[in-house]
Order: sequence, then structure tokens, then C-alpha cells
Amino acid sequence: MSENTLYCGDNLDIIARYMRPESIDLIYIDPPFFSSRQYEVIFGDAQERRAFEDRWKGERYHYLEWLSARVAKMRELLRPTGSIYVHLDWHVVHYMKVEMDRIFGNDCFRNEIVWCYRRWSAAAKQFQRLHDTILFYSRSSQGMNTFHVLHEPYTEGTLRRWKGIKRHTTIGPDKTLIQVEDTVGVKGANMGDVWPISILNANAKERLGYPTQKPEALLQRMIQASTDQDALVADFFCGCGTALAVAQKLGRRWIGCDVSPTALRIVKERLERAGAHKVAMVNYPRSEGELRLMKPFEFQNYVINFVQGVQSPRFSGDFGIDGYTLFHRFPIQVKQQDHVGRPEVQKFDSAIRREHKTKGYMLGLGFTRPAYDEAARIKMDKGPEIVMHKIQELIAAGEPVEIL
Ligand SMILES: C[S@@+](CC[C@H](N)C(=O)[O-])C[C@H]1O[C@@H](n2cnc3c(N)ncnc32)[C@H](O)[C@@H]1O
Repeated sequence: MSENTLYCGDNLDIIARYMRPESIDLIYIDPPFFSSRQYEVIFGDAQERRAFEDRWKGERYHYLEWLSARVAKMRELLRPTGSIYVHLDWHVVHYMKVEMDRIFGNDCFRNEIVWCYRRWSAAAKQFQRLHDTILFYSRSSQGMNTFHVLHEPYTEGTLRRWKGIKRHTTIGPDKTLIQVEDTVGVKGANMGDVWPISILNANAKERLGYPTQKPEALLQRMIQASTDQDALVADFFCGCGTALAVAQKLGRRWIGCDVSPTALRIVKERLERAGAHKVAMVNYPRSEGELRLMKPFEFQNYVINFVQGVQSPRFSGDFGIDGYTLFHRFPIQVKQQDHVGRPEVQKFDSAIRREHKTKGYMLGLGFTRPAYDEAARIKMDKGPEIVMHKIQELIAAGEPVEIL
């Protein structure tokens, strides 16, 4: 697990593969809401569309299952002093609160933060929906969580009433109640759980043009309250990276993850503008030169992920099958070589037949003419169809591809 790194992929998989338990101080997530395709598919690339379809296989319960599985894994990543903020809205927040109580325990619930804003919406037979809800839980139930009290200005009414002097009642040395006077205004009132912060308007300087981008002012509060300098902040649905950019600006370390390579490209630039040096990308589509330098196992994993397949549970040397296509479970073989020839095609043919499949994919850096001829012969003899793809050509498309 590396800090100041962006991970490309489904966060469930990224957590299992790369994250260390009890290592993160603050997790903020703003998952796609259970709303509609129009609002949920933001970057529009293949990985994100797939993630969207995943959540929509069923009804609300399916979404809750999908999100709860991820939040439960995130809980394990938090240090004992750590906290998580889960950003939701009216679609699922009430259901998810129940799930979060189950995952964290009631005692770890800290706040239901209401982020309220103004915006114009069409008249309807109900009140306008003008807030999101952020569920704040600590990893520990015993008040061990890092927390710095934030302050907000006193209201004008309070200031008028106090006429510059704040009086509050406290217990005196002789155990009687006494009135104490403070000068008003040094720090302000302790911050409450209702946060009026404007949504990003069309001209906002920080705006990058994505509809779900959250204001930095919102993230500042969570990060300042729940972390110390140098703490590690993670956002596993990072979108265009607001939480990470704020963490960077506040001198915190960070980890980001998103299923969309397009999103991560935007985040990388944003973080560099915010002063981050050497933003590392893991699992991101690579250049051909980088592919050639990868270790064989990393190369194989990378290519299988890139075509959105699933890894073979067995070691590749055993049976010549490195992974399977997602839907039909057709075998995939990955070759980090330029001249994949007839013998390799024949071995793969046997491997496909052993699995009683009708089709298989060979992904290599290059194939010889006899390899193509052999694949054609096998098909003519009513054997399995062997489809050969040059990995460079898949990568050149710039985004992960799906082979069905
Ligand atoms: C609502 S946006 C986050 C916006 C972000 N808070 C911001 O301010 O820009 C949700 C993001 O979750 C990503 N996403 C959806 N499913 C995912 C998954 N399974 N793993 C990782 N990221 C996912 C989407 O690609 C999208 O960028």
C-alpha cells in the first residue's frame, strides 16, 4: 500500500489487493447515489458503466448490499483513532444508517451531518430537497477518535443579546451556580451538525465541470475535525478528487481510488496543481514501454484487469489459463512476448477443450503468421474459436476494454 497514490479499479478489489488494516486515519466516501443513470454515470467510461450496472441488478436492497460490503471492508482499514464519513442523500441514507449501525455498532455513531444549500428546482407537490446527509462514525466506541472542535461565528441575534459580553452559568468553588463573563467572538460557537455551504456554482474557481463535484469547504471541515497534520486520508470513490485535493492542501497524506480512469486523470492533474509531487497511479492503463518492463505476474494481472476479466484461481503455469471473461467465463491466456507461435496456440486449444469451452482469448504483444493459421485451422475443424488480440492495440484505445 503506498501513500499519495491513485488506484484505478473497483474499490472492493483494490482494498483486498493493496490496503493494510488499521492504517488510515480518515475515510470519506461519496458513493454514487441510488438515483438514476443520468446522475450516476459521470465520466462515462467502460469501467464506470460496469460499476453502475453492478449496482442496478436489483432494487434498493441490492445497492445496500453493494455499498455495505465496501463500507465493512473500509472499517477494517481505519486506525483505532480513525473515522469515516459516508456522504448520502434521501434515496438511501435511512437504510444505510441501519447498515452502518450494524457494521460499526451503535456506539460508534457520532453525527448525522446535514449539508444544506440553495438551488433552484421546479415546483412540485412537496418541499424542495435542499440537503445531503453525511453519516459520521468512529472506529472506536470509547471516544478514542481524533476530534478537533471547530467553531462557527455566533449568530447576529446572539451577539445582539450579549452586547459584546457572553455570560454563561457554571458551578463555582463553593458548589453554587455562578455567572461567568467571556469576551464574545474570539473563537465563535462550537460547530453544530447543520452545515450551510453553497454548492459549486457555474463560475466557482474550483469547479472542474462534473455534476457530483463537492465543494472544498465541505471537505475542509471533516478533515480538520478528524485528523492531525500528516494523517492519512482516503477516498475510495474519489471522483474528481475533492477530498484528496483538500487533504493535500491541509498537509495530510492521501490515497484515492476510482473505477474510472478518466476520473483519475483529472484527479492527478488537480493534485499536482495543489502541490503534490510524483502522484503514483496503480492499475492504470499503461504505455507499451511500461508494459514490456513489468514483471510477468504483474503484467498478467494488469492485462486481465484491463480487459475486465477475472483472474484464474490457479497459477497460470499449470493449465495455460490466466483468467476468464466476466460474463461467459471464456478462458484468457496472457503472453508477454512478441512472437506467440503455433505451439502456444495448440496448447491453449487443449486448455480450452479441457474446460469444455467453445471460445478463448489469447492476449499477447505479437503473433506469428503460423499462429493465426493454426487458430483458423482449429476453428475449421470444429474446435474452439481462438481470438487473438495484440495488447498494445487494446491499450491504445486509452481506456480499459471489455471482451465479453
Ligand atoms: C459521486 S462521485 C464522487 C465525487 C467526489 N466526491 C468529488 O467531489 O468529485 C462517485 C464516484 O464513484 C466512482 N465509483 C463508482 N463505483 C465505484 C467502485 N465500485 N469503485 C470505485 N469507484 C467507484 C465513480 O466513477 C464516480 O467517480
